[in-house]
Amino acid sequence: MNYENKTILTGVKPTGTLHIGNYVGAIKPAIEFGHKVNQNGKHIMFVADYHAINAIKDAPLLSRLTKEIACAYLACGLNPEKSLFYKQSDVPELFEMTTILMAYTPKGFMNKAHAYKAAVDKNIARGEPTDAGINMGLYTYPVLMASDILSYDTDFVPVGKDQVQHVEIAADIAGAINAHYEKEVLKIPASYLTESAQVLPGIDGQKMSKSYHNVIPLFGSDNEIKKAVMSIKTDCQDINDKKNPDDILLYHIARGIAPESVVAEIKEGLEKGGMGYGSIKKMLLQAILDEVSEKREKYFYYMDHFDEVNDMLQSGAQKARQIARPVLERVKDAIFNRK
Ligand code: TRP
Repeated sequence: MNYENKTILTGVKPTGTLHIGNYVGAIKPAIEFGHKVNQNGKHIMFVADYHAINAIKDAPLLSRLTKEIACAYLACGLNPEKSLFYKQSDVPELFEMTTILMAYTPKGFMNKAHAYKAAVDKNIARGEPTDAGINMGLYTYPVLMASDILSYDTDFVPVGKDQVQHVEIAADIAGAINAHYEKEVLKIPASYLTESAQVLPGIDGQKMSKSYHNVIPLFGSDNEIKKAVMSIKTDCQDINDKKNPDDILLYHIARGIAPESVVAEIKEGLEKGGMGYGSIKKMLLQAILDEVSEKREKYFYYMDHFDEVNDMLQSGAQKARQIARPVLERVKDAIFNRK
């Protein structure tokens, strides 16, 4: 696939302190996309802070998490000269677009959306009323996300599996508008599942997620990272047993984060027997520290110099608005019969 002239867009919701699962599954692949786009294409990475307010009402916390994500993007190699980098809340065009899209979104789409359904299922499991604690922001989440995507004539949205349905909803809404006005008012986006968007297991073998308390922190201290790696669950097979690497959690985590040569060494050690879990943990720890140390330094630099980051976000938002505005006007021309 040629991505050079395409518009690629990703958003990350600031809802938790970042771990290496976020890095491997979302941040890294999204930043790598930026290198595939040329001057005729666009690479857009933004912080979805308005999506976050559905869940986070604690203002200082939201502000800290937003800051952390912005600094993490930069630390992991996002170049704001080449990629558009902004906070969703700084682009008012998005919210005007959202209101328009609402009118073309069947309510049934929202009933079926994963984020809402998951919240409903949780309520039912707890014996609570179906919609307890669910706000309209969560319910209409996919419409704002559709606006994020459609407002820039996005071609591709690199996402994890859990977000594919949301991109499909965006494509359906755009399709409905185009069909109604019998022309291409909005570009139809597609999701792009990156291979590395596979779920990284956490230290207990479940999906790595802050809600499972099983994460390896991305920008933790050496000691914090070490503590997490040393707690990765292992079985009690004998060191000399020949093992199937696919059965070994350490191997799965290594495959997500360690360089190929290290992964190959671990694989061989497990298959032949003789390599203990303790030494594999040491190798994995070293691989993680090699991958994150430099980024961690940059991350703390940006956290300490957030004014610089803010300037980048502000100028990114200005550029984003210049792209979103004509798209919005095009849609308004169609719906209000202005041209
Ligand atoms: N829903 C995404 C998440 O939870 C964040 C997001 C918001 C997004 N708008 C987007 C992702 C647009 C891709 C495109 O991670």
